[in-house]
Amino acid sequence: MLPPLDDVDRIMEVMAAAFPAEYGEAWNRRQVSDALLLAGTHHVLIAPDGTSPPPSHEPTAGFSLSRGLFDEEELLLFAISPAWRRRGLGHMLLEQFITDARNRGKKRLFLEMRRNNPAGILYASHGFRPIGIRPRYYRALNGERIDAITQELVIE
Ligand SMILES: CC(C)(COP(=O)(O)OP(=O)(O)OC[C@H]1O[C@@H](n2cnc3c(N)ncnc32)[C@H](O)[C@@H]1OP(=O)(O)O)[C@@H](O)C(=O)NCCC(=O)NCCS
Repeated sequence: MLPPLDDVDRIMEVMAAAFPAEYGEAWNRRQVSDALLLAGTHHVLIAPDGTSPPPSHEPTAGFSLSRGLFDEEELLLFAISPAWRRRGLGHMLLEQFITDARNRGKKRLFLEMRRNNPAGILYASHGFRPIGIRPRYYRALNGERIDAITQELVIE
């Protein structure tokens, strides 16, 4: 079965705008469409007014993409387009991801982020806690090496 093309388009539109080019974190279209074909992969789309999923005539403000295995799930991509930031959409999208994962029976959620990414403030406010460091994991275009921080949320 093919993934819904429209959702791939929507994800790629946000991806192109949201991830700073210098860290090479954005996925290409092939990576996204392949991921959506894998069992256990889930994505959430959110509209600028917080509706999820966005009605077909509405733009997409953000998305998450995650992959679950057994009772764990990893948040692989999470982004809100710059035009729609600091209005609480990141909070709503993260809450939706956590609720969906809980409803799928997940007990532990993971993610990995660049050290000092402001997203860490958002994750911490939803209960994620750092559990590990991959030293110098990310390489910026200017050659700078940045640690990856692994975070975990244990859900009831
Ligand atoms: C991280 C991201 C998803 C936040 O989206 P958002 O819609 O702006 O988030 P919210 O408006 O819900 O903000 C939630 C809180 O996070 C914190 N926050 C978000 N962006 C911040 C920033 N640039 N600087 C400081 N704090 C920030 C604040 O505490 C904020 O609450 P406040 O606005 O009440 O102060 C968005 O900035 C983004 O897409 N960044 C690029 C992609 C990325 O790095 N994704 C995470 C990969 S691990």
